[in-house]
Amino acid sequence: MALLLIRQDGKTPQWLNAFKFQYTKIECYNFNEPHPKEKITMALVWKQPHGLLGQYENLKCVASMGAGVDFIFEDPSFHNGLLMTRVVDPLLITDMEEFVMAQIYAHMKGLYQYQIQQSKSHWQQNPYLRKKDITVGIMGMGVLGSATAKALVTQGFNVFGWSNSKKQIEGITTYEKEDLDLFLQQTNVLVCLLPLTPETNGILDLSLFSKLPKSAFIIHVARGPHLVREDLIQSIDQGHLSGAAIDVFPIEPLEENDPLWVHPNIYITPHCASISSPESVVAQIIVNYNRLMSNQPLLNQVDTAKGY
Ligand code: NAP
Ligand code: GLV
Repeated sequence: MALLLIRQDGKTPQWLNAFKFQYTKIECYNFNEPHPKEKITMALVWKQPHGLLGQYENLKCVASMGAGVDFIFEDPSFHNGLLMTRVVDPLLITDMEEFVMAQIYAHMKGLYQYQIQQSKSHWQQNPYLRKKDITVGIMGMGVLGSATAKALVTQGFNVFGWSNSKKQIEGITTYEKEDLDLFLQQTNVLVCLLPLTPETNGILDLSLFSKLPKSAFIIHVARGPHLVREDLIQSIDQGHLSGAAIDVFPIEPLEENDPLWVHPNIYITPHCASISSPESVVAQIIVNYNRLMSNQPLLNQVDTAKGY
């Protein structure tokens, strides 16, 4: 019985160290170092190379290192005989709340425009928005979306939520799937916190943007393929949207010569809205590994039929 870590962005040592700090007896291996394949029962993954999971005949569970699991479903070597878990973690939640809030305040106060002015040594006071002018609409009222919505209400924002199924959350007007248009009409800061599924792929397109009020602002912190980038650029350039803060891209890192980098109303961050803390997440992976070994139900298990 052993656990395999699969990620390719150079962060594996941090995750292996986190296991050491927990003083666990679980055997952990890095996928690109020698390891006993027949012992692997759980794989802890982030953007694993496709096909690799198929090499482990005793694999029972694939655990995402993040909240999202789209990259596991996309791998043809993942199959329904395997269990899947994802991260639900207080730090990940707080980090997302703070990031979205920071973007909303930067938009309200026009802080990005002042950065541009500073780069030109240009002194000019601009009009700014107040909370009464802002209606935040959150697409995806799951763990991160509903926590962010509640945090915004606490700060005095007017918040709307949209999700597959209707939610009852004090202080927030919520809409279910078929009421998307009604939700969009009332939203002038749109936050995308949907999971990436075949249904949500490309959801942020021209038709959706056209249903938002003029000068609406987009905060996209979910997954790159939700957004049709040409449609975003067109909506901004035609003056319908006022701008967008984009944290996630179909190909990451965003290529150096990508025109999004230099668009004056698009504000790029490098998928940093909320980054899994190995120390915090590994503790729950150990709990689940022990549950798996003793045939108990896993925590934060993904409904693979639902797709998120
Ligand atoms: P979650 O708990 O699974 O919530 C997903 C929400 O989306 C649920 O409310 C769900 O509705 C709704 N939904 C799913 N499909 C829908 C559809 N077709 N139409 C309308 N609503 C739909 O997920 P989470 O933990 O909040 O995470 C959300 C996403 O954030 C992740 O999948 C990941 O991609 C992204 N993320 C990004 C970062 C970053 O740093 N940028 C960090 C962490 C996570 P129901 O409630 O009715 O099921
Ligand atoms: C980050 O993007 C995550 O899914 O946790």
